[in-house]
Amino acid sequence: MKRDLRLGVNIDHVATIRNARGGGHPEPLRAAKVAEAAGADGITAHLREDRRHISDDDIAQLMASLEVPLNFEMAATDEMYDIALRHNPHAVCLVPEKREERTTEGGLDAAGGFDHLAPYISALTDAGIRVSLFIEPDTKQLEAAKKLGAPVVELHTGAYCDAAGQEQDRQFKRIVEAADVAEKLDLECHAGHGLTFDTVGPVAGITTIVELNIGHFLVGEAIFGGLESAIKRMRALMDKARSEAGGERSA
Ligand code: PXP
Repeated sequence: MKRDLRLGVNIDHVATIRNARGGGHPEPLRAAKVAEAAGADGITAHLREDRRHISDDDIAQLMASLEVPLNFEMAATDEMYDIALRHNPHAVCLVPEKREERTTEGGLDAAGGFDHLAPYISALTDAGIRVSLFIEPDTKQLEAAKKLGAPVVELHTGAYCDAAGQEQDRQFKRIVEAADVAEKLDLECHAGHGLTFDTVGPVAGITTIVELNIGHFLVGEAIFGGLESAIKRMRALMDKARSEAGGERSA
């Protein structure tokens, strides 16, 4: 089913709950299959250096069993590069990683980290993997992503989601402007981080954004009404906002 706004469901925090007890429940793969059935267009999983949530085995299981594409989030390190090449996922999203952070706190510094990132982006691309860079909605970062040859950027929506009132409006404007710059630079534009039922609509209404990656809120909502229902509601809110903004849906 082709849609002009895809939903990637991030299942990292299913693994966070599993790992809290060190056993096997709840299984990220089972959550991914529920997400697939509920209308996710892709599954996203971040294999962190410290393996605090997703494990190497999770990635192997997802690659073996998913019908929708896997978006493999990773830091630009030799270890992660080798793992990506071993599994050959549909897409890799390069993210910054600091051990002490609770989540991916800011975007990748594509401009400042140009020389470090360039060989990873070209090698992953040569392997046939679609590379995206998770960056702040900032022209300098978008221009660097373009120069680096990444075909896709994912705009960090965390500052917008965390803000309120006028500051939220200001942060939202940065996303709108960045999506515009991405289009001019011919970069495919995704967005994500911190999105909820309340914050997803305006972002889904930006018609040049073609994919949203959402995780923590969906896993949290699943506690109250189930994962399937949370994903379906998110999907419906995205579709409503997109059709009100004049975007077409071919689904
Ligand atoms: N996109 C990227 C690149 C991320 O690192 C994350 C968080 O792991 C997300 C999207 C999803 O963010 P959240 O879990 O807050 O919805």
